[in-house]
Amino acid sequence: MKRGAKKILFVASEAYPLVKTGGLGDVVYSLPHALHERGADLRLLLPGYRALLRQLDQVRILGWFDLRGAEGIVSARILETRHGDFPFPLWIVDCPPLFDRPGNPYVTAAGSDWPDNAERFAVFARAAAQLGLDALELGWKPDVVHCHDWQTGLVPAFLHAAPHRPRTVFTIHNLAYGGHFSHTDFVRLQLPSQWWSPEGVEFHGGFSMLKAGIVYADAVTTVSPTYAEEICTPAFGYGLDGLLRAVRHKLSGILNGIDTRLWDPSTDPHLPAHYSPNRIQPGKRRNKEALLSRFLPAVNDAAMQAPLVGQVGRLVEQKGIDWVLAAIPVLLAESDIRFVLLGSGQAMYEHKFTQLARQHPDRVFVEIGYDETLAHRIEAGADLFLMPSRFEPCGLNQMYSLRYGTPPVVFKTGGLADTVVDTTPETLDDASATGFVFDTPSVDGLLDAIRRALALYRKPALWRRLQQHGMRQSFDWSESAAHYLELYSA
Ligand code: ADP
Ligand code: GLC
Repeated sequence: MKRGAKKILFVASEAYPLVKTGGLGDVVYSLPHALHERGADLRLLLPGYRALLRQLDQVRILGWFDLRGAEGIVSARILETRHGDFPFPLWIVDCPPLFDRPGNPYVTAAGSDWPDNAERFAVFARAAAQLGLDALELGWKPDVVHCHDWQTGLVPAFLHAAPHRPRTVFTIHNLAYGGHFSHTDFVRLQLPSQWWSPEGVEFHGGFSMLKAGIVYADAVTTVSPTYAEEICTPAFGYGLDGLLRAVRHKLSGILNGIDTRLWDPSTDPHLPAHYSPNRIQPGKRRNKEALLSRFLPAVNDAAMQAPLVGQVGRLVEQKGIDWVLAAIPVLLAESDIRFVLLGSGQAMYEHKFTQLARQHPDRVFVEIGYDETLAHRIEAGADLFLMPSRFEPCGLNQMYSLRYGTPPVVFKTGGLADTVVDTTPETLDDASATGFVFDTPSVDGLLDAIRRALALYRKPALWRRLQQHGMRQSFDWSESAAHYLELYSA
């Protein structure tokens, strides 16, 4: 570690590969790695969920905090551990009554929020703020505390009034999740009464942890330039657009990068065969065959020649799932496409996809659940990738699919608009085309884009050119990590 390196406390509620529910986990893994490579001195602070603790070998107790919870004082141990996937120390807030439970970090097995989420993330934030002030006297006081999403929104608020405090940066990964809780929670958690105002954390009679981050952080970022603009409008602002416009001077959009080592079709250990832009076949075809053979007793020529359309993701309204559910039957009727989906989320969507697969067992393949390996295999084995999100702060899957030679179909919004270039005769010619972008938010808009894609798929030379353009895009962290470092120093 260089002398004088910036000390950064990264605070988040998930990090790949320890605990991940979506793109947040990927970014909380890959961004600190990129910062570390650029000389930053980091600690990553996470809650001690059972699933996370289970993966740790040796831990050291750094100290204890007694923190205000919902019913009184709760004790938390701060653990330090080294983990093979991280070149910097991990710090863990170990508070068994709040985090030592099975399952998802945010929701119960039935899919509803853990009833004590307000307490869980308020206590986590109190611990983070204390560490930000080096309250355990570890001799490591961060210059910057960088927090992510509503689960950490109270951290900048707790630090705001502290003397000699570090700079705080708050990154919004998704404005749709506001961390809304009641006034009763606010009182029970003994949050400072001066926060209770429309200029503070108050939001429609309750309070919002996301709003706290936006109000009290020194700098607010979101994960793409277009989303930074969109959230300042009523259509995308979830009631916070007025506030976001008012804090525009401290708001910026920094496009996520991806980890180009974990997501590399020429080395990816999840894949049965490897390939690169200069030699896409036969590797990609072998991936398609392996993927199809997972769902079909025998993979015939017809299945191999038909375009395989893939999708991976959370099955929620954000992702345009209803458009996909409406479009697939139309495409099944008018073309020979096959469709493969991996996802989990709202029960209604899970049910509808399962039904569709049952109706078309030889053409629609659905896996409900969470499966890292299958996600990589779909990115590699599909011909076309669907990501028609209604809004998308950044989106990582479309960047993975570009890198895997699987052109994405996206709605023109947020990070999708910033990372995918629509295919037209002109963009094919000047080598800028990478996918298919539609700008009418409807089933017809999606269908039209998929039809354009299927027509090009029938022209192998042009299709290969499109795949190569996408695969040669650079989505690594270099530029964006440099932006964050500038922001830390501002
Ligand atoms: P979001 O964060 O909104 O879910 P992103 O595209 O940014 O969307 O990131 C999603 C990440 O989560 C990707 O790494 C994707 O592969 C992964 N993912 C989503 N659903 C699943 C699933 N069911 N199984 C495996 N990985 C998934
Ligand atoms: C959120 C967003 C997604 C983004 C990810 C990582 O989950 O929905 O668009 O890519 O965070 O920043």
